Amino acid sequence: MVPYFCTVGKGLEKFCVLELSEKVNDVQIHESITGKVFFSSKEPPGVLLALKVVERLFILVFNGEQFLCQVPSSRALRKLKSLVESDPINWDICLNHWRAYQELSEVNVSSGVEAQFSSQFVSASCAKKLCISYVESCDDSHSITNFPARFRVSCKCSGIVRKTFHQQLLARIIGRSLVKTRAWTVDLRNPDVEVYVHASDQYLTLGLPVTKRPLSDRPFLKHIKVRSTLCHAVLMAVGGLSSGSVVLDPMCGAATLLVEGAVSFPSVTFIGLDICPAQLKRAKENVNTATVGEHVHLLLGSAVCLPLKDGCVSHVICDLPFGNKFGSVNDVKRLLPDVLLSLNRVICSGGKLAFLISNTLTNFLHNSVHNLNTFLFPNQGANCVTRSYLVCRWKALERHSVKLGELPANICVFEKESVKHD
Ligand SMILES: C[S@@+](CC[C@H](N)C(=O)[O-])C[C@H]1O[C@@H](n2cnc3c(N)ncnc32)[C@H](O)[C@@H]1O
Repeated sequence: MVPYFCTVGKGLEKFCVLELSEKVNDVQIHESITGKVFFSSKEPPGVLLALKVVERLFILVFNGEQFLCQVPSSRALRKLKSLVESDPINWDICLNHWRAYQELSEVNVSSGVEAQFSSQFVSASCAKKLCISYVESCDDSHSITNFPARFRVSCKCSGIVRKTFHQQLLARIIGRSLVKTRAWTVDLRNPDVEVYVHASDQYLTLGLPVTKRPLSDRPFLKHIKVRSTLCHAVLMAVGGLSSGSVVLDPMCGAATLLVEGAVSFPSVTFIGLDICPAQLKRAKENVNTATVGEHVHLLLGSAVCLPLKDGCVSHVICDLPFGNKFGSVNDVKRLLPDVLLSLNRVICSGGKLAFLISNTLTNFLHNSVHNLNTFLFPNQGANCVTRSYLVCRWKALERHSVKLGELPANICVFEKESVKHD
């Protein structure tokens, strides 16, 4: 088993754990803390590069209780030095695991796959095949022992450690120890290997990032409006996307959500609508650079009057406007009830909706859904409703707290249930 950890956006830890359990065989999840998930896996390198909710993936070098603030600082620094120079860290083993990822990039370059191997272009099963063939053709001469590593230490301190130690001081101590014991050369600009250190209130964690670029990079996007890891979490939250699903984003903006969906679920049809032609132009560019035009259809129009047939959509995903860029909170409050009514018409019974919405507007969304239910089904079976799409109720399924940049937000999931008349 190779020990790993990955960094994730705040609130996305549970999506990361779910993704690991679904996509990685024999994975053992050890711990999930704010912003990080620790796990082990036997999978060949590459399979993990297909993870979509992860920011960065690391070979775990060390994770232990943070001792820096528990003893006088001179003793703490001596302890840190001896941790790096001797047991329990086995740098050779860690570097061999790390090296396998560097070899993987080389194999992919030579096999004609794009130079920046990116799991976004290669399905997990393809990645697995490539990795297996690499592992089979690899012999022991690839040992890291003589690797002439140029390295740098990137140290991040948070909480009380940040107040006690300067992160550059810790980076320097770790760096000097590595120069002394491993005879590596410091290269701050273009290192072969980066040693990542995070000292939080809880843990001291050391790791080697397996790729230079974060896994969360989506090189196929020209305009990024929402972090793709968060978009992926919205797609996971709405759930049940499979061949035949029709997904609508009624306020699609630059289509970040739709493109993430189309890349990850190629058998699904995606429809994006926006009232603003300039946004749709950006959406079109993103769809084109990601080459998903076959699966993503863009329409100009208003979400309050959707130009779609009754019940033709199985899933709705929507990053509701917030802030002053796309309208004030009051504008959104005025718009939302009509948008919900319009969505109610186009989404089929049993259909699901996931809204990414700021904290400020979350209660308003829930109240609007409550009001919609009262309108749709006023008196437990009132006979004033005539059209079939009106005989239904929206049920709140889940609410996940996330961060939109620094803004606290939620992913709220609903299901449209049909309600039987007596
Ligand atoms: C927060 S942005 C969406 C960002 C989008 N999720 C993305 O991936 O780029 C909100 C979008 O809602 C659009 N919008 C605002 N009012 C609308 C309406 N009545 N109908 C359709 N779109 C609307 C805005 O033009 C804007 O592009």
